[in-house]
Amino acid sequence: MKAVFIVFLAAAALQAQAPARTSMIRQYQLERDAKELRLVIKTVPQPVATQPGQVLVRVRAVSLNQRDLLVMRGQYGAGGGGDMSGHVPLSDGAGEIIAVGAGVNRFKAGDRVAGTFFTQWVDGKRTPQVAASARGGGGVDGMLSEVIVAHQDSLVRIPDHLSFEEAATLPCAGVTAYRALFVDGQLKPGEFVLLEGTGGVSTFGLQFAAAAGAKPIITSSSDDKLQEARKLGAFGTVNYRTNAEWQREVRKLTGNAGVDHVLEVGGRDTLPKALEALGFEGHVAIIGGLSGFASDISAGRLMTSGASVTGIYVGSRADFEAMNRFIAQHKIRPVVDRVFPFEEAAKAYDFMDNGSYMGKIVIKIG
Ligand SMILES: NC(=O)c1ccc[n+]([C@@H]2O[C@H](COP(=O)([O-])OP(=O)(O)OC[C@H]3O[C@@H](n4cnc5c(N)ncnc54)[C@H](OP(=O)(O)O)[C@@H]3O)[C@@H](O)[C@H]2O)c1
Repeated sequence: MKAVFIVFLAAAALQAQAPARTSMIRQYQLERDAKELRLVIKTVPQPVATQPGQVLVRVRAVSLNQRDLLVMRGQYGAGGGGDMSGHVPLSDGAGEIIAVGAGVNRFKAGDRVAGTFFTQWVDGKRTPQVAASARGGGGVDGMLSEVIVAHQDSLVRIPDHLSFEEAATLPCAGVTAYRALFVDGQLKPGEFVLLEGTGGVSTFGLQFAAAAGAKPIITSSSDDKLQEARKLGAFGTVNYRTNAEWQREVRKLTGNAGVDHVLEVGGRDTLPKALEALGFEGHVAIIGGLSGFASDISAGRLMTSGASVTGIYVGSRADFEAMNRFIAQHKIRPVVDRVFPFEEAAKAYDFMDNGSYMGKIVIKIG
């Protein structure tokens, strides 16, 4: 990741130009460099709730996703190809409501909330309009700001037992895993679930599957992470680095019946093997492409095995709210690997790009 230039606009000078009593806040924006976008910290006037239904949220923590690296490199296509130059990055964040505008009936000042990944997907089917409303991509401002203005429909209450740092991990990776397992997958107790690696989506998938009474089997390149995964409820673990044919081991762990669900995040390196590990009538949730997106699934194999394959793109606000009820019921705590201070946001990006982590990376604000 490129070195980050930190530009502090003189707050005092801006205060002098701004109308009396305008509060100033800090936020990161993306600025275009020769080749890619870079993070720039700015001091700007605090946003104002001007439209009916809008609220102000003091953001306390945000979390990173692989998508945020792609956005920075201008490589994020899916529903987010718009120019992010001059916009605030990061889709995921949590905080508290500090002011409500006209017509707000879902929240009051002091409520603890998280932003939804899509600002315009309350429930029902995904539409092109939904895809274009994803925070932190495609020209839609994200959450890496001390205060944001948001429509009340694009926020959810967060579970009481979670800190802001924990809640900030939920909007993308958490909702994706939840939707894959419980909405598309219709997971039942006792079923086998394959999770690839110990990143954000897979770790949530592991915790959710275990809480639902299913049997999660997780892979990793690290034995230490697999040991942690067992503490989180993994039924089986396989090191995919030391065991190149890991799918055979996964099948063995199911008594050779094969898994009932796959949360497919690896792409090219993993999909063919995951299909070998899949049992009859199994469900594959296509989620990611950590090794590049895979392109081939045999139609004949799908037909004869009765497998179903669905594409997941995070989920709706209704999915988020259902997940929060599940998390509260089972007192699940998201796995936060490391928390960076606001001033070191660039280091958090670098850590996601180059570091070894399990679960989520968080930036604390304030
Ligand atoms: N469609 C959607 O709605 C959606 C939502 C969220 C994420 N995604 C996508 O899903 C993927 C995973 O996202 P994430 O947030 O969970 O990522 P992440 O937290 O960055 O996951 C990184 C981890 O994945 C594992 N990994 C990396 N390459 C692997 C490979 N070739 N085979 C197996 N495991 C591998 C490693 O685990 P170990 O260290 O344990 O080996 C690594 O630490 C990304 O491609 C992301 O863009 C899609």
